Amino acid sequence: MASTTSPRSIAPEGRVIMISGAARGIGLAAARVLAEEGYSLSLGVRQPEKLAQEAGLPADRVLLHRFDATVPEDAAAWLDSTLARFGRIDGLINNAGMIKTLDLRSGDESVLDDMWEVNVKAPYRLIRLALPHLETSGNGRIINVASTDGKRYRDGVSVAYAMTKHAVMALTHAAKFAGWDHGVRVTALCPGAVATDFVAGIPGVTPAADRIPPETIADTIAFLLRLPNASSVAELVMNTRLETVI
Ligand SMILES: NC(=O)c1ccc[n+]([C@@H]2O[C@H](COP(=O)([O-])OP(=O)(O)OC[C@H]3O[C@@H](n4cnc5c(N)ncnc54)[C@H](OP(=O)(O)O)[C@@H]3O)[C@@H](O)[C@H]2O)c1
Repeated sequence: MASTTSPRSIAPEGRVIMISGAARGIGLAAARVLAEEGYSLSLGVRQPEKLAQEAGLPADRVLLHRFDATVPEDAAAWLDSTLARFGRIDGLINNAGMIKTLDLRSGDESVLDDMWEVNVKAPYRLIRLALPHLETSGNGRIINVASTDGKRYRDGVSVAYAMTKHAVMALTHAAKFAGWDHGVRVTALCPGAVATDFVAGIPGVTPAADRIPPETIADTIAFLLRLPNASSVAELVMNTRLETVI
């Protein structure tokens, strides 16, 4: 007898996932894990030629395309190339991001503009473009790599970074509403310190030994992508330190 409930999990084969900022860190770890699982991948990176030489990813299932988050035209060009190559989009992982220090007493306000462009506007733009295709999928997924800095303010961390990651939380919930009726499920993945170049020099950052391996974040992304439509995870917070609430 055919099951009337949601499937236990969604198989990777035939599903096409776009990942921004896949040249290193979390994005590259995610590309490696998802390629191993059998997904087809479209990787948006600033220097595709450099990644092609280094990545060791299966060329028959992986498209590398230029994507600079500060260039609005790059988003549409990347999406168009993905559709031309694979004919569909099942997932979008907004991972590319940057951090610069700016607090309320010092620093140049232009830093906030830079981070707003990369951390907020580019994901917004990509979601707008990808949403109709994710809806066609029936099981479309969006994962926005936010941060614990999107869930609370910790003194000493860049105010500007925390502001952009809080904005990503709002974007996540808006996208969840926009795509819900067509099977699109959206998650803000909120890790604490991850062991990548990103946190080098950040004051008060979790000690190196306690940082989350990027492969753990990649495994979490793989887990989220397999969840059926009936298992929406709007926020997934993964802390490295003991705090109240998160
Ligand atoms: N590491 C952490 O502790 C941590 C914790 C919570 C959340 N996060 C979030 O996780 C995401 C990935 O960070 P990560 O730790 O993997 O850092 P990472 O190793 O520094 O990698 C950042 C990636 O973003 C890309 N990127 C930066 N600016 C870009 C732009 N203008 N256009 C396109 N790509 C751009 C970089 O490209 P290039 O290689 O070309 O520079 C790189 O691939 C970010 O959104 C970050 O906010 C990180």
